[in-house]
Amino acid sequence: MENEILILAQGLKKYFQPRGFFGLKNNFIKAVDDISLEIYKGETFGLVGESGCGKSTLGRTLIRMYEPTGGSIFYKGEDITHIKASQLKMLENRFQIIFQDPYMALDPFWNVGEILEEPLRRIGMDSGQWSNKIKDILEKVGLGSDDVHKFPYEFSGGQRQRIGIARALAVNPEFIMCDEPIAALDVSIQAQVVNLLQDLQEELGLTYLFTAHDLSMVRYISTRIGVMYLGRIVEKAKSRELFKNPLHPYTKLLLSSIPLPDPKNAVKKRKFKSVQEAALTDVMRGCNFAPRCEYKTELCLCEVPILRELEAGHFVACHNAKEIN
Ligand SMILES: Nc1ncnc2c1ncn2[C@@H]1O[C@H](COP(=O)(O)OP(=O)(O)OP(=O)(O)O)[C@@H](O)[C@H]1O
Ligand SMILES: [Mg+2]
Repeated sequence: MENEILILAQGLKKYFQPRGFFGLKNNFIKAVDDISLEIYKGETFGLVGESGCGKSTLGRTLIRMYEPTGGSIFYKGEDITHIKASQLKMLENRFQIIFQDPYMALDPFWNVGEILEEPLRRIGMDSGQWSNKIKDILEKVGLGSDDVHKFPYEFSGGQRQRIGIARALAVNPEFIMCDEPIAALDVSIQAQVVNLLQDLQEELGLTYLFTAHDLSMVRYISTRIGVMYLGRIVEKAKSRELFKNPLHPYTKLLLSSIPLPDPKNAVKKRKFKSVQEAALTDVMRGCNFAPRCEYKTELCLCEVPILRELEAGHFVACHNAKEIN
């Protein structure tokens, strides 16, 4: 079904207590700050933003790896915000995660067969069926059945990511959080892994949340894209629309930072200030992006802009979006 919402977040918050700040009880890191978001069944929702903006935290909170600080999460209409540990176990098989660094995520002392047996044991599959299932999954991710005896260090980066994908697939998940799955790979390998993820999505009807630092690769894989800035989603639209018609000043900056082959365009590339610099600036009462924004007004400094539908299906959180576009 095309428009079935698989995961819905309403006013979701995840705050962390900074380490080493004893006594400063109200000094939270607002990694996810009041985010509402819907992910449709079968789509790839791309989440883009600079390092530290909260992409991983949002994804992990959505799949209940983290306990939310506030707001609600629904899975197929069922409230899963505060479900018990026993129910969480059940969700583990519905939701899976693929990590940026497959080497860190794989146990170096286990061979591929053992890595893939562990999730099969967890879902209670009869051990007599393991070997056929493992052969089947390895084939799906483009590895051979001979690979079961090899250890992670014997593979290349791209192949290791294929093992990570195989492990996620073993439990027949419905939703996979792909947390920068290609960021650590050579550019030449990135497209292969993206293609594999797309083929698997088609074959198995999977839904993805796909995070990335920059827009260049998410453009090809995403149905819709959310642009995140310091804990909030500042723009959300269909992938093609976002590229054709970016409305938020931050999205415009991100787009201008995509390396372009045309040297004439490269001249237009603008400079970023570091995200840390902005994060340290004390303007959290208003728009988080205001310190870096060339269009900011008084209002931006005192009121948080909410995500508004400026054009059909195209949402933006900017007080001045109409004026600057
Ligand atoms: N377990 C934690 N404890 C305390 N702070 C955390 C924790 N996890 C994340 N943070 C902080 O929350 C903010 C968001 O981090 P997060 O890892 O979600 O960002 P990200 O967008 O995924 O970054 P990257 O692109 O580098 O992966 C950062 O300031 C980070 O330091
Ligand atoms: Mg991350």
